[in-house]
Amino acid sequence: MGALDRVLVQVLPYVPRYIAGETLEDALRAVGALNGSGVRATVDVLGEFVHDLGEAELAGQEYVRLVDAFAERGLDSQASVKLTQLGLKLDFDACLGTMRRLVEHAQALDTLMTIDMEDSSCTDATLDIFETLRRRSSHVGAVLQARLRRSMHDLRRLLPLEPNVRICKGIYLEPPEIAFDDRDDVRRNFLELVDLSLSGNGFVGIATHDEVAVRGSYALLERHDAQPSQYEFQMLLGVRDDLRRRIQLDGHPLRVYVPFGRQWYAYSMRRLKENPAIAGHVLRNLMRV
Ligand code: FDA
Repeated sequence: MGALDRVLVQVLPYVPRYIAGETLEDALRAVGALNGSGVRATVDVLGEFVHDLGEAELAGQEYVRLVDAFAERGLDSQASVKLTQLGLKLDFDACLGTMRRLVEHAQALDTLMTIDMEDSSCTDATLDIFETLRRRSSHVGAVLQARLRRSMHDLRRLLPLEPNVRICKGIYLEPPEIAFDDRDDVRRNFLELVDLSLSGNGFVGIATHDEVAVRGSYALLERHDAQPSQYEFQMLLGVRDDLRRRIQLDGHPLRVYVPFGRQWYAYSMRRLKENPAIAGHVLRNLMRV
């Protein structure tokens, strides 16, 4: 067995905690359990960077089924989608068309489609699509990444639209010309973005498991006298359940991001790299080679 395989074998048992399972039914069960404990959900059909528009079309249909199932079962859930899964890199107009139909469907069933933010090669096109759709419907949300230097500028541009915007640190490795690489800078920018979002008339999803950022956000919520209709905390499935319970006990609205599907590899690898226990594990094992 090669070095990489050995490491993979050791970390793979950690994967299931980050995803609800492979099927729609798995995701709906996870959402039901979260709702039962007073937590909202947003569900992601795993997949990104499709190779042809047929695959993009299938992904769109999967999202329609998902949103239908929320309504049929009375679940408190939204959906999160990656535009490269809907063909962003293949055909901008086709992607916009699919996304428009999804937002119309979400609107008919009174839920929200949040457009996840991918790497910086997608930022402009993603924000263009968000802005176009937001002008016609409030049932679409955007994501801004505190890691990117441009995000404050992007938020100022979006604020007049009274957006539903999720602020996260950003998972993608980006060059230093366009991104902060110091964790304190990323955290500072995160809090400044939350601060500015709260000064507008939109809705902000405060998406982090960083206790310092959570405490900093508490202070901002107080300063802005923010009401539960203006914000929520958001966390990923399988990450810091202890912190999730504390935020709930402190009386704040909370949503958990629930990924499901057969294409779990890329998503799970990103989560494993962020897990401090795993990062140490992988390094220790590579040094043994
Ligand atoms: P940080 O990485 O500093 O983590 C804080 C602490 O949380 C760590 O010290 C550790 O204890 C714990 N932790 C974090 N990740 C863990 C893991 N995987 N396993 C175990 N413990 C872990 N990104 C993006 O680029 N585009 C997007 O659209 C989204 N969408 C999104 C939605 C939601 C609801 C969340 C919560 C996050 C995202 N992200 C994202 C991911 C985000 O950008 C970021 O990579 C992660 O949230 C980790 O950053 P933290 O703010 O949690 O801080």
